[in-house]
Amino acid sequence: MKNRSLVSINDFTKAEQLQILDRAEEFEKNPNQRILQGKVVASLFFEPSTRTRLSFESAVNRLGGRVIGFSDANSSSTSKGESLKDTILTVSNYSDLIVMRHPIEGSARWASEVASVPIINAGDGANQHPTQCLLDLYTIRQTQGTLDNLNIAFVGDLKYGRTVHSLVMALTQFNTTFHLISPTELKLPSSVKMYIKDANLEYHQYTEITDAIPKIDILFMTRIQRERFSDPMEYERVKNSYILKNSMLEKSRQNLKILHPLPRVNEINEDVDPNPKAYYFQQALNGVFVRQALIAKILGV
Ligand code: CP
Repeated sequence: MKNRSLVSINDFTKAEQLQILDRAEEFEKNPNQRILQGKVVASLFFEPSTRTRLSFESAVNRLGGRVIGFSDANSSSTSKGESLKDTILTVSNYSDLIVMRHPIEGSARWASEVASVPIINAGDGANQHPTQCLLDLYTIRQTQGTLDNLNIAFVGDLKYGRTVHSLVMALTQFNTTFHLISPTELKLPSSVKMYIKDANLEYHQYTEITDAIPKIDILFMTRIQRERFSDPMEYERVKNSYILKNSMLEKSRQNLKILHPLPRVNEINEDVDPNPKAYYFQQALNGVFVRQALIAKILGV
């Protein structure tokens, strides 16, 4: 993985993905190791973020490296009309690795083709979010003891949710049975569903969460992605499609864990938070260890 970019989760093999999870377990036990001394990581966020940006920064800081960058494109020369290519060529001169979030699908691939340092895609539009995928895999393995043969439900915005796209693609390597719950307008795109079909795996589609709850090991809730809708009225129509309440979990399996990439809006009621099956804040914490492992692999330390 040394000096390679991570744009799509498929850029790394299953064996490489598992190596990152194993290394992340070491960082979870011992997160403060000064192995990045002298290294500079650029953090270019052209779109808002709390977890991804700050967990990357925390990961680099805990490893003794330095972070440069911006969290708002308006404070960069993009606002003066600079092209993405020129920004990437410039920042390649200042850093050993670039972490980039951008609203345009394919922007991270484009950046990886012009950069002279590796690019980590921290989310490109509605396309992919491979580092979230790695931390989701880590969390699923941590809570279930395995990644194999699980029943996993995805709820909410399966059309625009980039975290869903990356995770579904990765899980097709682990004989997952998929349970897909979304409004008709926000179904999983056929380009992603093809991965399930090509792997000869089962998927079941529902419109109600409660129909799937007794059958699943992981309930992966997602936010309706308001920022991706071209028609605000369409968002208003679907925004409250799914709201998980604690009472809906009565018939759930004992091993069920509820995940969410966060931020949540209202799709998980706060009365779920004290339930031991709610695991989304631990999931966000795991982002630090997984990103430490990924950076260490790419920088070869
Ligand atoms: N999960 C995630 O990508 O969260 P942020 O948008 O806060 O980075």
